[in-house]
Amino acid sequence: MATRSSRSFTCLGVETSCDETSAAVVRNGRDVLSSVVLSQVDLHELFGGVVPELACRRHVEVIVPILGRAVQEAQCGWDQLDAFAVTYQPGLVGALLVGLSAAKTLAMVYGKPLIGIDHLHAHVYAALLGGGAVEFPAAALVVSGGHTVLFQVDSPISLTPLGATIDDAAGEAFDKVANILGLGYPGGPQLDALSEEGNRKAVDFPRSTLEPDSLDFSFSGIKTAVLYHCKGQNAGRKTAMRKGVKVPDVAASFQEAVVDVLVEKSLRAVRRVGTDHLIVGGGVSANRRLRQRLNEAGGKEGFCVVFAPPELCTDNAAMIAGLAYPLWKEGKTAELDLDAVPTVTFSRG
Ligand code: KG4
Ligand code: ZN
Repeated sequence: MATRSSRSFTCLGVETSCDETSAAVVRNGRDVLSSVVLSQVDLHELFGGVVPELACRRHVEVIVPILGRAVQEAQCGWDQLDAFAVTYQPGLVGALLVGLSAAKTLAMVYGKPLIGIDHLHAHVYAALLGGGAVEFPAAALVVSGGHTVLFQVDSPISLTPLGATIDDAAGEAFDKVANILGLGYPGGPQLDALSEEGNRKAVDFPRSTLEPDSLDFSFSGIKTAVLYHCKGQNAGRKTAMRKGVKVPDVAASFQEAVVDVLVEKSLRAVRRVGTDHLIVGGGVSANRRLRQRLNEAGGKEGFCVVFAPPELCTDNAAMIAGLAYPLWKEGKTAELDLDAVPTVTFSRG
């Protein structure tokens, strides 16, 4: 009889935790047969951030055609799928419930296992899906719009949090600073591009590294520092920009300060784990300066940095269907009463 480790495993993944509706088919945790991602940027840019109620409604409207497209593009029939994987934590509760309802329905109709996926663990898995060779234990940095977390990774399904943001996530800081500077949403890619034209040393924004051995992050102070620099002490976000403020310089200086902190904390995590492999995933890991600086730090300190491929940095279901494979091999499937868990509380390892 074929064992779980020898049999081919084709999985449909569903991701609706925030403002991307995504479905993907992945074989054996490696081969991406299809990956469909529908971004809701058009819906939320007017508000400068994700509006949960609008996000849920859009997921409901598009989930069925997105699932159909993923299966069609994978050129496999519904009955050829071996399991249905879905993000159940963390995320916007209403948004998570849309994906969960869809995946549970499919699991019930086709009589196949349901696999619940932690979104942050999937961001780490995205780097492995890109073909990156990683030795365990490794350290991992997940840096996205909703989260900034460091993990010790003992295997793709065994992750221990080492630290996390105590206020804003790095991506949230990018988005809010872009808003202050009058750039569009999401702000990360725009700040990344604009920083190329600016002087990284123009403004000395604060780097909050907390206690010398802390692996936690804090990004709310720098956001306020940018606001006051651009618009004056105690200004509000809608206050006009002061005369003479050079937006590309502010962008480049802000980005450098955030990158400094992310690099410093990643170095601490690498040392704490005692590894020579650092995995990096999440939307902000697409940032070119962060990639350059982490690669430089790895070269200097003798560790290897494995990034998620750019197309798998932001939210996608390929990383969900991919991570389902090692979980399925270990028999870690879920019951149909699997619930959405909006917030994960980190007990640090
Ligand atoms: O992983 P993701 O799609 O969503 C969450 O799980 O939160 O990350 C989205 C975040 C946004 O805050 C966006 O501004 C940021 O990733 N981002 C970037 C870049 N590309 C996306 N931040 C900095 N530089 C980039 N190139
Ligand atoms: Zn994400």
